[in-house]
Amino acid sequence: MHYDPSVTDGFFMPPSLPLFKVRMPPESVLLPALARVLYSGQIGEGEAVAQFESAFGQWLGHGTPVACSSGTAALHLALLLAGIGPGDEVLSTAMTAEPTNMAIRHAGGLIRWADVDPQCGNVTAATLAAALTPATKALLVVDYAGLPVDMAAIRSLADAHGLRVIEDAAHALGARFGGKGIGADADFTIFSFQAIKHITTGDGGMLVLRDPGHLSRARRLRWFGLTRGVARTEVAATEVGYKYNMNNIAATMGLAQMEGVDQAVAAHRANGQAFDAAFSGRAGLAPARLEAGAEPSYWLYTLLCDDPAAIVARLEAAGVASGVVHRRNDLHPVFAAARRPLPGLDRFSARHIHLPCGWWVGEAERARIIEAVTGS
Ligand SMILES: Cc1ncc(COP(=O)(O)O)c(C=O)c1O
Repeated sequence: MHYDPSVTDGFFMPPSLPLFKVRMPPESVLLPALARVLYSGQIGEGEAVAQFESAFGQWLGHGTPVACSSGTAALHLALLLAGIGPGDEVLSTAMTAEPTNMAIRHAGGLIRWADVDPQCGNVTAATLAAALTPATKALLVVDYAGLPVDMAAIRSLADAHGLRVIEDAAHALGARFGGKGIGADADFTIFSFQAIKHITTGDGGMLVLRDPGHLSRARRLRWFGLTRGVARTEVAATEVGYKYNMNNIAATMGLAQMEGVDQAVAAHRANGQAFDAAFSGRAGLAPARLEAGAEPSYWLYTLLCDDPAAIVARLEAAGVASGVVHRRNDLHPVFAAARRPLPGLDRFSARHIHLPCGWWVGEAERARIIEAVTGS
């Protein structure tokens, strides 16, 4: 059933503008493709998955893609390929969705929090350097809300200390930094195609390998430690593997999504840039700080405000959803052992909210949001 804002049983209800929305290709594109795969007799991992990996890799412009059942699965594989095992220390951020840090625990790693820049919510080379210990093995960096981190600086830090770099770009599909596609400087990058991301396959993810030498082990880890294509009776599993492969149904959705990915990202970016311009220089408000060379993909719009509750209330009165999306992960009891002072995160947490910024925010909605936030 479709909600028609003009027919609300006689009551005026401002149409609600959500923070997230599921983006689907047109039925005319998706349904015939889905019907073909559903009745092809091959709905598991097959040709469509290989085609999706190839299309995604070409679009991204770097690395070797390995399609997975989720972004979390891709993160777990990235950590394993980075050599993280029981007791290995990984520097991570608490300003993220839980899967980032759950995956470290899946691999048996120990989390050590790096603080974030209070003006954007992301770790930086400086905050990671300050958190390093002699035991650190890898850096897990998140481009939170679609704001890309300066990975070249982090790459230098990692190389100086012999560390692996994993980039969680679940929010940052289509973002760029210094003219390079997101993930170009990381050893392993992951994307999520879960329901409300820039593009969705229902559930799904992509692991992108900088070094194609990891490909065959990545594929084996993705599928019970076995080599697909070799008869099950002929193949020997030599390490524990997982059921992390993508299926042809999800990949078919992914292929259809790729046709509109640039338009989707462009719509997020146009809204984000309009908000940046509208909220700059306003008393009590600030857009998230952008590093020079950053081209965010604005999955959500990050706004810093002196009085976040008042802004959220004004937006709610205008029928716009807003607010804090994730609980800072260091407050979860499951991560209590990692707790340490994070003054940058304290400041970011006290001031930030997220606004809707995606392709469903058109010019009229954008103006409504700006008016609600600024009062003009
Ligand atoms: C920052 C971040 N990392 C990783 C994930 C995991 O992705 P998935 O839900 O596809 O497992 C998500 C989203 O759910 C996320 O927001």
